[in-house]
Amino acid sequence: MIDRDADKRLAAVAAVREVCDDMLVGLGTGSTATHAIAALAERRLRIETVATSHASAKLAESLGLRVRDFAEVSRVDLAIDGADAIDAELYAVKGAGGAMLREKVVADAADRMIVIADGSKRAQRLGGTPLPVEILPFAKSYVVARLAHFFDRTAERPNYRTDNGNIVVDGHGWDDTALQTLADSLVAIPGVVGHGLFLREIDAAYIADGGIVTRLERGRNPR
Ligand code: 5RP
Repeated sequence: MIDRDADKRLAAVAAVREVCDDMLVGLGTGSTATHAIAALAERRLRIETVATSHASAKLAESLGLRVRDFAEVSRVDLAIDGADAIDAELYAVKGAGGAMLREKVVADAADRMIVIADGSKRAQRLGGTPLPVEILPFAKSYVVARLAHFFDRTAERPNYRTDNGNIVVDGHGWDDTALQTLADSLVAIPGVVGHGLFLREIDAAYIADGGIVTRLERGRNPR
């Protein structure tokens, strides 16, 4: 049987090898990113970090990593983060952990973003994965009504608030044939503050499957 957690760790360790002294590193959120934070701390490099969630900041600090306030940062060298589904184009769905807005901001600020994942996250198509949408609580009913145009079904996460104080609605059953159009349509709805479609942020990915790590680079992967 495949040990998914061991694969997550392998992918994380491979990505962390790309980190050098003097870098400012963006720390992702989730179980795979947790392995990366631990692997980074073990390397004892002379680096600083920014975190995409309170949980990752707390973990990184507890392991001795210096975590800067991202509000005071305009550029990051390298971001390392997990994903819920990723295809050969390095388009991805993120946000099962609810941190996709901060993750996207940090990824956008980064010169390079690397996704780390176990093999179960590789997808031919993204539309089978629920797409998280972060919504201003004030706008909930209005936005959910608008989302019905794009999803077969939506489900609000119960008793849940993001680190930004917003709610998350997961969109199930969506058309993945025009990803950029969908992304543009979602951000155009007033009250939507973010979503989990990552279409241009990811530069490379380390995917571990059954102990074998594969490195994907944007624009260079067989379908
Ligand atoms: C959090 C995320 C995570 O990176 C994504 O959900 C993958 O999580 P995991 O590594 O636990 O499978 O996007 O918002």
